[in-house]
Amino acid sequence: MLKVANLRVQYGRIVAVRRVSFEIPPNGALAILGTNGAGKTSCVEAVAGLLPKAEGTVTFGARDITGAPANLIVRHGIALVPQLRELFLDFTVEETLLAATAACRDRSAVGREEIYSLFPRLAERRRSLAGNLSGGEQQMLAISRALTTRPALLILDELSAGLSQGILGLVISSLQKIREAGVSLLVVEQNLEIAAALASECLVMSVGEAVWQGPIREAIDSDEIRKAFFR
Ligand SMILES: Nc1ncnc2c1ncn2[C@@H]1O[C@H](COP(=O)(O)OP(=O)(O)OP(=O)(O)O)[C@@H](O)[C@H]1O
Ligand SMILES: [Mg+2]
Repeated sequence: MLKVANLRVQYGRIVAVRRVSFEIPPNGALAILGTNGAGKTSCVEAVAGLLPKAEGTVTFGARDITGAPANLIVRHGIALVPQLRELFLDFTVEETLLAATAACRDRSAVGREEIYSLFPRLAERRRSLAGNLSGGEQQMLAISRALTTRPALLILDELSAGLSQGILGLVISSLQKIREAGVSLLVVEQNLEIAAALASECLVMSVGEAVWQGPIREAIDSDEIRKAFFR
Protein backbone atom coordinates (compact mmCIF):
# COMPACT_ATOMS: atom_id res chain seq x y z
CA MET A 1 0.00 0.00 0.00
CA LEU A 2 2.81 2.42 0.96
CA LYS A 3 6.15 1.94 -0.71
CA VAL A 4 9.11 4.14 0.13
CA ALA A 5 12.21 3.58 -1.97
CA ASN A 6 15.68 5.00 -1.44
CA LEU A 7 14.46 8.06 0.47
CA ARG A 8 16.90 10.87 1.19
CA VAL A 9 16.02 13.98 3.22
CA GLN A 10 18.31 16.97 3.71
CA TYR A 11 18.23 20.22 5.63
CA GLY A 12 20.51 22.27 3.44
CA ARG A 13 23.73 20.29 3.46
CA ILE A 14 22.80 18.23 6.53
CA VAL A 15 21.62 14.78 5.49
CA ALA A 16 18.97 13.57 7.95
CA VAL A 17 17.81 10.43 6.07
CA ARG A 18 19.66 8.39 3.46
CA ARG A 19 18.79 5.29 1.45
CA VAL A 20 15.72 4.41 3.49
CA SER A 21 13.29 1.93 1.93
CA PHE A 22 10.27 0.16 3.41
CA GLU A 23 6.81 -1.05 2.56
CA ILE A 24 3.53 -1.32 4.41
CA PRO A 25 1.02 -3.84 3.03
CA PRO A 26 -2.75 -3.06 2.96
CA ASN A 27 -4.14 -3.26 6.52
CA GLY A 28 -0.55 -3.48 7.73
CA ALA A 29 1.47 -1.78 10.42
CA LEU A 30 5.13 -0.87 10.69
CA ALA A 31 7.11 0.80 13.45
CA ILE A 32 10.09 3.06 12.80
CA LEU A 33 12.33 2.87 15.86
CA GLY A 34 15.51 4.63 16.87
CA THR A 35 17.01 7.05 19.38
CA ASN A 36 16.99 10.87 19.30
CA GLY A 37 18.20 12.30 16.02
CA ALA A 38 17.99 8.98 14.13
CA GLY A 39 15.95 10.65 11.38
CA LYS A 40 12.52 9.19 12.18
CA THR A 41 10.57 12.46 12.07
CA SER A 42 12.38 13.64 8.94
CA CYS A 43 11.48 10.36 7.28
CA VAL A 44 7.74 10.43 8.04
CA GLU A 45 7.38 14.17 7.40
CA ALA A 46 8.89 13.64 3.96
CA VAL A 47 6.42 10.80 3.33
CA ALA A 48 3.54 13.11 4.35
CA GLY A 49 4.80 15.86 2.03
CA LEU A 50 5.80 18.24 4.82
CA LEU A 51 9.49 18.07 3.89
CA PRO A 52 10.95 17.81 0.39
CA LYS A 53 12.50 14.53 -0.70
CA ALA A 54 16.07 15.05 -1.95
CA GLU A 55 15.99 11.60 -3.56
CA GLY A 56 13.78 8.53 -3.72
CA THR A 57 10.17 7.73 -4.48
CA VAL A 58 7.01 7.28 -2.46
CA THR A 59 4.04 5.43 -3.89
CA PHE A 60 0.69 4.98 -2.18
CA GLY A 61 -1.60 2.40 -3.73
CA ALA A 62 -1.12 2.87 -7.46
CA ARG A 63 -0.19 6.56 -7.09
CA ASP A 64 3.25 8.12 -7.21
CA ILE A 65 3.04 10.79 -4.47
CA THR A 66 6.76 11.64 -4.43
CA GLY A 67 6.24 15.26 -5.46
CA ALA A 68 2.72 15.78 -4.10
CA PRO A 69 2.12 18.58 -1.57
CA ALA A 70 0.94 17.74 1.95
CA ASN A 71 -2.64 18.95 1.41
CA LEU A 72 -3.06 16.60 -1.55
CA ILE A 73 -1.42 13.68 0.26
CA VAL A 74 -4.00 14.04 3.04
CA ARG A 75 -6.76 13.82 0.46
CA HIS A 76 -5.17 10.68 -0.97
CA GLY A 77 -5.53 9.08 2.47
CA ILE A 78 -2.36 9.60 4.52
CA ALA A 79 -2.70 11.52 7.80
CA LEU A 80 0.11 12.42 10.19
CA VAL A 81 -0.11 13.03 13.94
CA PRO A 82 2.98 15.21 14.39
CA GLN A 83 5.49 14.75 17.20
CA LEU A 84 4.67 18.16 18.73
CA ARG A 85 0.91 17.70 18.06
CA GLU A 86 0.71 21.21 16.58
CA LEU A 87 -2.81 21.99 17.69
CA PHE A 88 -4.28 25.48 17.46
CA LEU A 89 -4.44 26.15 21.19
CA ASP A 90 -7.21 28.72 20.96
CA PHE A 91 -9.52 26.43 18.96
CA THR A 92 -12.00 24.34 20.92
CA VAL A 93 -12.09 20.58 20.46
CA GLU A 94 -15.13 20.97 18.23
CA GLU A 95 -13.53 23.74 16.13
CA THR A 96 -10.38 21.66 15.68
CA LEU A 97 -12.42 18.78 14.26
CA LEU A 98 -14.44 21.14 12.05
CA ALA A 99 -11.22 22.61 10.63
CA ALA A 100 -10.03 19.08 9.82
CA THR A 101 -13.33 18.41 8.05
CA ALA A 102 -12.66 21.42 5.83
CA ALA A 103 -9.26 19.96 4.89
CA CYS A 104 -10.96 16.88 3.44
CA ARG A 105 -12.49 18.73 0.46
CA ASP A 106 -13.74 16.00 -1.90
CA ARG A 107 -12.95 13.22 0.60
CA SER A 108 -15.81 12.39 2.98
CA ALA A 109 -14.90 13.31 6.55
CA VAL A 110 -15.48 11.13 9.59
CA GLY A 111 -18.27 12.70 11.67
CA ARG A 112 -17.64 14.16 15.10
CA GLU A 113 -20.00 11.73 16.83
CA GLU A 114 -17.98 8.82 15.51
CA ILE A 115 -14.80 10.45 16.80
CA TYR A 116 -16.40 11.12 20.18
CA SER A 117 -17.48 7.51 20.52
CA LEU A 118 -13.85 6.50 20.05
CA PHE A 119 -12.62 9.14 22.53
CA PRO A 120 -15.43 9.84 25.05
CA ARG A 121 -13.08 12.14 26.99
CA LEU A 122 -13.14 14.53 24.03
CA ALA A 123 -16.94 14.50 23.93
CA GLU A 124 -16.98 15.75 27.52
CA ARG A 125 -14.53 18.48 26.63
CA ARG A 126 -15.90 19.47 23.23
CA ARG A 127 -16.26 23.13 24.21
CA SER A 128 -12.83 23.37 25.89
CA LEU A 129 -9.94 25.12 24.21
CA ALA A 130 -7.22 22.76 22.99
CA GLY A 131 -4.77 24.77 25.10
CA ASN A 132 -6.71 23.89 28.26
CA LEU A 133 -6.66 20.12 27.68
CA SER A 134 -4.28 17.76 29.48
CA GLY A 135 -1.36 16.34 27.50
CA GLY A 136 -3.23 13.07 27.02
CA GLU A 137 -6.40 14.81 25.85
CA GLN A 138 -4.34 16.91 23.43
CA GLN A 139 -2.86 13.72 22.00
CA MET A 140 -6.39 12.28 21.61
CA LEU A 141 -7.39 15.47 19.81
CA ALA A 142 -4.36 15.38 17.51
CA ILE A 143 -5.22 11.76 16.62
CA SER A 144 -8.89 12.69 16.13
CA ARG A 145 -7.98 15.58 13.84
CA ALA A 146 -6.00 13.12 11.70
CA LEU A 147 -8.79 10.50 11.77
CA THR A 148 -11.36 13.05 10.64
CA THR A 149 -9.75 13.01 7.19
CA ARG A 150 -10.60 9.27 6.96
CA PRO A 151 -7.02 8.09 6.39
CA ALA A 152 -6.15 4.71 4.93
CA LEU A 153 -2.74 5.17 6.58
CA LEU A 154 -2.26 6.91 9.92
CA ILE A 155 1.25 8.03 10.86
CA LEU A 156 1.90 8.54 14.59
CA ASP A 157 5.13 10.33 15.52
CA GLU A 158 6.11 9.47 19.13
CA LEU A 159 2.62 9.30 20.45
CA SER A 160 3.78 8.10 23.87
CA ALA A 161 6.05 11.08 24.65
CA GLY A 162 5.03 12.72 27.92
CA LEU A 163 1.88 10.62 28.50
CA SER A 164 1.05 8.81 31.73
CA GLN A 165 0.54 5.03 31.66
CA GLY A 166 -3.22 5.34 32.18
CA ILE A 167 -3.85 7.75 29.32
CA LEU A 168 -1.45 5.87 27.10
CA GLY A 169 -3.44 2.67 27.69
CA LEU A 170 -6.65 4.43 26.57
CA VAL A 171 -4.98 5.87 23.47
CA ILE A 172 -3.44 2.54 22.50
CA SER A 173 -6.71 0.64 22.84
CA SER A 174 -8.43 3.23 20.62
CA LEU A 175 -5.66 2.86 18.05
CA GLN A 176 -6.04 -0.92 18.15
CA LYS A 177 -9.73 -0.45 17.27
CA ILE A 178 -8.74 1.87 14.42
CA ARG A 179 -6.32 -0.77 13.18
CA GLU A 180 -9.04 -3.44 13.35
CA ALA A 181 -11.30 -1.16 11.31
CA GLY A 182 -8.75 -1.45 8.48
CA VAL A 183 -6.56 1.63 8.89
CA SER A 184 -2.85 0.94 8.34
CA LEU A 185 -0.39 2.36 10.86
CA LEU A 186 3.12 3.77 10.63
CA VAL A 187 4.26 4.18 14.22
CA VAL A 188 7.38 6.19 15.11
CA GLU A 189 8.58 5.26 18.60
CA GLN A 190 11.53 5.18 20.94
CA ASN A 191 9.65 2.84 23.26
CA LEU A 192 9.73 -0.71 21.87
CA GLU A 193 6.93 -2.07 24.05
CA ILE A 194 4.53 0.64 22.91
CA ALA A 195 5.49 0.04 19.29
CA ALA A 196 4.87 -3.68 19.82
CA ALA A 197 1.31 -2.97 21.01
CA LEU A 198 0.49 -1.47 17.60
CA ALA A 199 2.74 -3.23 15.07
CA SER A 200 4.68 -6.45 14.83
CA GLU A 201 7.31 -5.43 12.27
CA CYS A 202 9.86 -2.66 12.62
CA LEU A 203 12.54 -0.71 10.86
CA VAL A 204 15.34 0.52 13.12
CA MET A 205 17.03 3.79 12.13
CA SER A 206 20.37 5.09 13.33
CA VAL A 207 22.10 8.29 12.18
CA GLY A 208 19.77 8.63 9.20
CA GLU A 209 20.02 5.08 7.92
CA ALA A 210 17.92 1.94 8.17
CA VAL A 211 20.11 -0.43 10.15
CA TRP A 212 17.83 -3.35 11.01
CA GLN A 213 14.44 -4.63 9.91
CA GLY A 214 12.45 -7.46 11.43
CA PRO A 215 9.92 -8.44 14.12
CA ILE A 216 9.80 -5.97 17.04
CA ARG A 217 9.73 -8.93 19.45
CA GLU A 218 13.08 -10.05 18.10
CA ALA A 219 14.53 -6.57 18.72
CA ILE A 220 13.10 -6.58 22.27
CA ASP A 221 14.49 -10.04 22.99
CA SER A 222 17.95 -9.41 21.55
CA ASP A 223 20.44 -7.76 23.93
CA GLU A 224 22.70 -7.22 20.96
CA ILE A 225 20.15 -5.19 18.97
CA ARG A 226 19.03 -3.24 22.04
CA LYS A 227 22.61 -2.40 23.00
CA ALA A 228 23.57 -1.42 19.48
CA PHE A 229 20.63 0.87 18.69
CA PHE A 230 18.74 1.86 21.81
CA ARG A 231 21.31 3.08 24.34
N1 LIG B 1 15.06 21.87 10.82
C1 LIG B 1 16.23 21.24 10.87
N2 LIG B 1 17.37 21.82 10.43
C2 LIG B 1 18.56 21.19 10.47
N3 LIG B 1 18.72 19.93 10.92
C3 LIG B 1 17.64 19.30 11.37
C4 LIG B 1 16.34 19.91 11.37
N4 LIG B 1 15.45 19.03 11.88
C5 LIG B 1 16.15 17.92 12.17
N5 LIG B 1 17.47 18.08 11.87
C6 LIG B 1 18.54 17.08 12.03
O1 LIG B 1 18.18 15.91 11.32
C7 LIG B 1 18.53 14.75 12.05
C8 LIG B 1 17.31 13.87 12.24
O2 LIG B 1 16.36 14.55 13.03
P1 LIG B 1 14.89 13.96 13.28
O3 LIG B 1 14.12 14.99 14.02
O4 LIG B 1 14.34 13.47 12.01
O5 LIG B 1 15.21 12.71 14.22
P2 LIG B 1 14.24 11.84 15.12
O6 LIG B 1 14.67 10.42 14.96
O7 LIG B 1 12.85 12.17 14.85
O8 LIG B 1 14.64 12.31 16.61
P3 LIG B 1 13.72 12.45 17.93
O9 LIG B 1 13.53 11.06 18.45
O10 LIG B 1 14.55 13.29 18.85
O11 LIG B 1 12.45 13.11 17.55
C9 LIG B 1 19.16 15.24 13.35
O12 LIG B 1 20.55 15.22 13.21
C10 LIG B 1 18.65 16.65 13.48
O13 LIG B 1 19.55 17.46 14.18
MG1 LIG C 1 11.33 12.90 16.00
